[in-house]
Amino acid sequence: MSTDLEEIKATLKKYGQEHLLNHYETLDDAHKQKLLEEIKSIDFELIDSLYRNAEKTQNNEGDVITPIDYLDKYKLNDQYKYYQDIGKKAIKEGKLAVVTMAGGQGTRLGHNGPKGTYDIGLDSHKSLFELLCDGIKEEAKKYDVTIPWFIMTSRENNKETVEFFEKHKYFGYQKDKNLFFFIQGELPMVDTEGKILVGEDGLIKLAADGHGGIYESLVKTGMTKKMKEIGVDWVFIGGVDNCLVKMVDPVLMGIAIDKKVTVACKSVVKANPQEKVGVFCKRNGKPNVIEYTEITEEMAEQRDENGELLYGESHILCNLFSVEAIERMGAEPLPYHVAFKKASYIDKDGKIVKPDSPNAYKFEAFLFDAFGEVDEMAVLRVKREEEFAPVKNADSAGVDCPKTAKELYEKFYKLK
Ligand code: UD1
Repeated sequence: MSTDLEEIKATLKKYGQEHLLNHYETLDDAHKQKLLEEIKSIDFELIDSLYRNAEKTQNNEGDVITPIDYLDKYKLNDQYKYYQDIGKKAIKEGKLAVVTMAGGQGTRLGHNGPKGTYDIGLDSHKSLFELLCDGIKEEAKKYDVTIPWFIMTSRENNKETVEFFEKHKYFGYQKDKNLFFFIQGELPMVDTEGKILVGEDGLIKLAADGHGGIYESLVKTGMTKKMKEIGVDWVFIGGVDNCLVKMVDPVLMGIAIDKKVTVACKSVVKANPQEKVGVFCKRNGKPNVIEYTEITEEMAEQRDENGELLYGESHILCNLFSVEAIERMGAEPLPYHVAFKKASYIDKDGKIVKPDSPNAYKFEAFLFDAFGEVDEMAVLRVKREEEFAPVKNADSAGVDCPKTAKELYEKFYKLK
């Protein structure tokens, strides 16, 4: 332990992060040990370089951005049934699993708990998790299979999520047989001086590293191995906050199989140039998404000769991957995007600081940055009213909120 401590001190000195041990002596043995382990797992070079680049705007400068080709699900004509039959066969053979990314909290919604536990106000009062589960089961029944369901949580919400599922008898699923939980990765938060923050518990202030970490987490936690063991070839990865998500889609799967691509994504037409969605594009000739925080106004407004937005295929976090593509993507580091956030911490005098305005950098990788790994992927345009009812904001925002999601859900399922 003491040599460990000496080595750690030397590393911290090298990177100007000695303050991380300021409160070491006040911790109990278990926390002391935990803190040392956390420090040992930090890639200080990475954190240093992320901090140094944190203020650089991510404006796609130097990248050649061009529109991407897509197929329209409802203009496939004879091909519709052709693709559907290919996909149906694969689903019947048990080749599909689904993953729900549920690492986020419902902070923007004002919900205190894992976002998936949120009740959007339907008469049934079902949570987002249960609505998603209903959707999977309804489709699975058609093929007489159980679709394995993998749930990505974060350290912050894993316990609460698993307990929620347990309380609801796993919605008919069987834990560790066809329902699996895995925890996403985290990175330290850094202040404007480049110092890693110490959290209120005296440990490193960690934050989820974005859903781009999903590939690595799926591999590291043994989930891809599990998928292969149970005969899964294809994995649909979706967010927890779209209550109309259609995870089991034979047409999408048929297209991926027939076109021999390892990634196939669904899109909907962007509602207006300002809508807060990422859009599919090609970046330097490779498939990609420009996030809504990073697209220029000019690019968002550009239209083609038919008046359609040139960058109008919205990324709705409905993406299908081959297991092999996930493994490949998990082996390559992704770039990190920076967010400036409010984060409480312990200052050098041991006082808890709860800032009123953003004070720290959070680093997140985005799942779609891995798309550039493949030369070609398929984009399938689907109908917004059938597949996209996001729950992002509180009702007061008026858009992408529980009220709009509930209306869309009730309309689609003809509940009212
Ligand atoms: C996201 C997409 C955007 C897309 C929009 C569609 C990103 C960066 N952008 O925006 O391109 O058009 O949804 O609704 O995703 N999550 C984790 N762990 C994390 C971060 C997120 O599991 O570390 C999960 C969330 O629980 C949620 C999903 O990923 O299910 C989306 O994350 P969120 O931060 O809400 O993304 P948006 O800004 O809404």
